[in-house]
Amino acid sequence: MKTIISPSILGGSFSNMENVISDLDKSKAEYIHFDVMDGDFVPNLTFGSKFITDLRFKTKKVFDVHLMIRRVGQFLDNYINAGSNIITFHNEIDENISELIYKIKDNNIKVGIAIKPKTPWEDIKEYLHTIDQVIIMTVEPGFGGQSFMNNQIKKIQNLSNFVKKNKLNINIEVDGGINFETGKLCIDAGANILVAGSFLFNQKNLISATNELNDFFN
Ligand code: DX5
Ligand code: ZN
Repeated sequence: MKTIISPSILGGSFSNMENVISDLDKSKAEYIHFDVMDGDFVPNLTFGSKFITDLRFKTKKVFDVHLMIRRVGQFLDNYINAGSNIITFHNEIDENISELIYKIKDNNIKVGIAIKPKTPWEDIKEYLHTIDQVIIMTVEPGFGGQSFMNNQIKKIQNLSNFVKKNKLNINIEVDGGINFETGKLCIDAGANILVAGSFLFNQKNLISATNELNDFFN
């Protein structure tokens, strides 16, 4: 199966985002990952939907929007209208998960559910037949540049086995601390989308770093 790279722009400087997006547009990454944080669901704040809207014109790449916010229902229309192609929200919020799934699907946008490291994958079993992707967090959500949590590998394997056994049409994305080595562990365990932030942005050239990561797995 093809491995999709989803560079997380959180690793870049927000003062330079237009250039970051145009570099990623030239790279082999299929997705661009947007980390939306509300300072409540996670202990950090990033940006809202306007940021995504304002960058949408720069590229036709898939906008992979990761909502780390508590009040998804209240703001969902904004992220739909911003031109998101995939919207993933967290299972750990106190909202009606099925309603959110169908609202996103009704707008012809792909939908994902993300789970924190301590959340068992079985908690989202009932939704798996209705969603397009799962994000397994391999760090505690909130910050880029953290170390990969090896103890999430078993979760990826178990979810992947369930997906295969039940012939579900679902992508498994991993997010946090991804590099060549940790990415390989995740791909071997059954993931097929790699989010990478600091690993890519810490290198001199974002385009070649992204292409190297892509070529390593494809
Ligand atoms: C963490 C975010 C990640 C993060 C990944 O809350 O969801 O997408 O930006 O960054 P790295 O690759 O640096 O762990
Ligand atoms: Zn993310």
